[in-house]
Amino acid sequence: MRIDVFTLFPEMFAGPLSNSILKRAQNKGVVEIRLHNFRRFAKDKHHTVDDTPYGGGAGMVLKPEPIFDAVEQLRKKTGWFPLFYLSPKGKVFNQKIALEMSKMERFALLCGRYEGVDQRVIDGLIDEEISIGDYVLSGGEPAAIVLIDAVVRLIKGALGDEKSSQEESFSNDLLEHPHYTKPKEFREMKVPEVLISGNHKEIRKFRENTSYQITLKRRPDMLKSKGEANG
Ligand code: ADE
Repeated sequence: MRIDVFTLFPEMFAGPLSNSILKRAQNKGVVEIRLHNFRRFAKDKHHTVDDTPYGGGAGMVLKPEPIFDAVEQLRKKTGWFPLFYLSPKGKVFNQKIALEMSKMERFALLCGRYEGVDQRVIDGLIDEEISIGDYVLSGGEPAAIVLIDAVVRLIKGALGDEKSSQEESFSNDLLEHPHYTKPKEFREMKVPEVLISGNHKEIRKFRENTSYQITLKRRPDMLKSKGEANG
């Protein structure tokens, strides 16, 4: 997979992209992530990327020209790619969307700043606006990092053990069961007996049951959406 990111702050990606799963996935060639600072495409002496909004109001708006030029130049060089804009107004990102995106050969992300981008960028360049939740960040970069992490770890070969991404929360529409490791007893808190029993059938039942109970308690909406509210 190839992911291109258009951002005014490429340095914000340095830490997240050079550690852990994302680092390994890039080193293994599972994903190639390219950062593009569209300030480079601002033609004036001061490399201006924003301006005051027509009609007045607070804040600055990202100008269309540098963004169009950056995206169009890359498309000319490497071929067309879908472009997603990270925005609190977008479709809310979830595990299902992450899974769909993990099967794409290529996509690009545009990170906004200030009050947002000129609407003509959205109308002329953007395939879909994506939000990572109902809160406002100071820019799209942290959202892009969240999206990239959630998508890349689902690509075949990104995790050591493919099973671990299938069993986790949301993958089967339930929250994940609790986990325990050694020691068997810690500060008088004991690991549930069944997990030590070696009885795999009982262990599976325990995990399915705790997974269901925690979902019922914390996210009953997830059960309702499957028509299992009374199940
Ligand atoms: N930019 C600012 N807030 C955002 C959010 N919640 N999701 C995606 N991009 C954003």
